[in-house]
Amino acid sequence: MNRLALALALALVACNKDSSARPPAAAATPVTAATGGPAALDALDKRTPVPLLPMMADHQKRNMRDHLLAVQQIVAAVAVDDFAGIEQAASRIGFSEPMGQMCEHMGTGAPGFTELALAFHHQADRITVAARAGDKVGVLAELGTTLQACTGCHEQWKQQVVDEAGWQRVAGAPPPMAHGAGH
Ligand code: HEC
Repeated sequence: MNRLALALALALVACNKDSSARPPAAAATPVTAATGGPAALDALDKRTPVPLLPMMADHQKRNMRDHLLAVQQIVAAVAVDDFAGIEQAASRIGFSEPMGQMCEHMGTGAPGFTELALAFHHQADRITVAARAGDKVGVLAELGTTLQACTGCHEQWKQQVVDEAGWQRVAGAPPPMAHGAGH
């Protein structure tokens, strides 16, 4: 069993633990790479791939979930006119040097991705500016534009998990086996 299948099986076990109504984990047959599941999904999903090592893909997804959490917190803070709270949450999706470097790294094999990511973070900074001005309508307008950056990127790009050799190919470094291979 590969690691993904194992993780899925463990997740199913974890989900089933509290629910006696569910069938046992063994009854569910996770679709694995061997049975073509990920490839079938990939064929259906026509978006442009962003090649990432597994660790990077996981990191990106964690970031994404935190982006959504930040949006949730911004909306909750707007509802109670908590401008400091808006600012605090918005700063998590705003631009910073480390954030910018991470976006460069993530977009290494996907020309155009980094630009969208950086534009998104700079747009999110405008939520902070509006919050500092105590401008509630401005906050909502900038949040709306920021969410367009989220959905616009999601519409265009999908993750593609690659191995070390695949990563080195897209990152422009020669894969280890290619040395002296004459091309
Ligand atoms: C520059 C591109 C880009 C921007 C901007 C962006 N995302 Fe994403 N996001 C992605 C990619 C790529 C994925 C992986 C999609 C896939 O492979 O299906 C993703 C996945 C996600 C996921 C799924 C995470 C998971 O655990 O599977 C969430 C939630 C998410 N994004 C939220 C957001 C929110 C909220 C914003 C804006 C505040 C945002 N994203 C902005 C590129 C982006």
